[in-house]
Amino acid sequence: MSQYDVIIIGAGPGGYVSAIRCAQLGMKTALVDGRETLGGTCLNVGCIPSKALLHATHMLHEAEHNFAAMGLKGKSPSVDWKQMKSYKTDVVTQNTGGIEFLLKKNKIDWIKGYASKVAAGKVKVGDTEYDTKNVVIASGSVPSTLLGVKVDNDKGVVVDSTGALDLPKVPKKLTVIGAGVIGLELGSVYARLGAEVTVVEYMDAICSGMDADVQRSFKRILEKQGLKFVMGAAVSSVDTTKTKAKVNYTLKKSPDEEQTLDADVVLVATGRKPFHDGLGLEAAGVKLTKRGQIATDDRWQTNVSGIYAIGDVIEGPMLAHKAEDEGMAVAEVIAGKHGHVNYSLIPGVVYTTPEVATVGTTEAELKAEGKKPKIGKFMFMGNARAKAVHQGDGFVKLIVDKETDRVLGAAIIGPAAGDMIHEICVAMEFGASAQDIAMTCHAHPTYSEAVREAALACGDGAIHA
Ligand code: NAI
Repeated sequence: MSQYDVIIIGAGPGGYVSAIRCAQLGMKTALVDGRETLGGTCLNVGCIPSKALLHATHMLHEAEHNFAAMGLKGKSPSVDWKQMKSYKTDVVTQNTGGIEFLLKKNKIDWIKGYASKVAAGKVKVGDTEYDTKNVVIASGSVPSTLLGVKVDNDKGVVVDSTGALDLPKVPKKLTVIGAGVIGLELGSVYARLGAEVTVVEYMDAICSGMDADVQRSFKRILEKQGLKFVMGAAVSSVDTTKTKAKVNYTLKKSPDEEQTLDADVVLVATGRKPFHDGLGLEAAGVKLTKRGQIATDDRWQTNVSGIYAIGDVIEGPMLAHKAEDEGMAVAEVIAGKHGHVNYSLIPGVVYTTPEVATVGTTEAELKAEGKKPKIGKFMFMGNARAKAVHQGDGFVKLIVDKETDRVLGAAIIGPAAGDMIHEICVAMEFGASAQDIAMTCHAHPTYSEAVREAALACGDGAIHA
């Protein structure tokens, strides 16, 4: 008889959420993770610690730039970096401890160690082999490497996102390779702490694939905050001494001319890759995609019956909330229910100030299909609440079907965009039209009124525009 109904490998947002749902559905569940604390990359060295640093440095920015205007006078706070990192560690500890509590509450066994062998009905951790009816692989992702660039987080000169969260001191000059989410969030943190931040990006726009209006506006706002950008630039190598680095790159427009940038610290933020090393997937016969992800069917089952995979290790956006949704859905599938994830409605958020949030289809994607969407746009300059908190930059943009008025997508750059996007997600989930949003009473004064105004702009016009 099997010891477990389900063994889940990896205690990140995909794995631990899946374990909780499996337990709620009455299955005997174990979660395998070798880290000292639960929560995976997101809680330990990703989303959560970066949000703590973004919050602390945003407070600093407010003190330096907006306090005096609001009648708050006095010396700006100075930065105690060691204390800021200790606050960040406290935030992480509270959150990872919370997950441990939830596992106990749901009677889930934490098998502490790294799974070394996975097969149908079996998982080996250390010297022990556990029997299980089902296996869910939620082993996540790791930063991808860049040819010619050696990351060494211990030395602290060329670092990835993990190293960048724990630098021994605030660098004078930080060069970030990659203008994606990680590069811009952590670049913002260090720019606010006083570092001279230069972001080197291969593409011609930041946040590749995002709404073009947002890309332009976002870059302009970040430049105003002091970040410098070198666009259309491919980094080929980084030379290092003990304490300095030289980033070598070529511009697409002059590929024969090598350029260099000096830095105290280089952050490599050029993407992440699925992680499943050491699980013995080849021996188990589990198939991978061409890009090294674990291949699954639409019920998250691999080609081996009883072995499932979710989160960053499979196809799709590498986002904690996508992994969580898959974690719940796969639990329901294993329990014989109908698990479902609506992949067309997964929001993306960048937690800078202002925040950026997107969902659904972009204007460019629709135009590429030959469609002419209706666009409703409302600037935060017309939103009283945003102006009151010095956050009048940015806008809400709704992308709407011209014939049916159905909302197809949205992009927001502005205060609390990451929270506001969900009103639109829910509306889209219910197949709402822009008029449905426009006719819904929105409390005043709130940032959310900007969503309603954008919806009104799809009809007879916004009021405060
Ligand atoms: P990314 O894929 O978002 O961006 C990487 C950027 O690096 C791209 O724009 C690419 O063009 C550029 N690049 C690649 N090679 C280059 C080279 N040789 N020279 C110059 N530029 C180069 O990757 P990122 O920011 O590392 O994030 C990894 C993953 O983690 C993403 O899937 C992201 O969605 C996720 N993440 C999400 C967060 C959130 O939801 N707020 C926060 C942090 C990470």
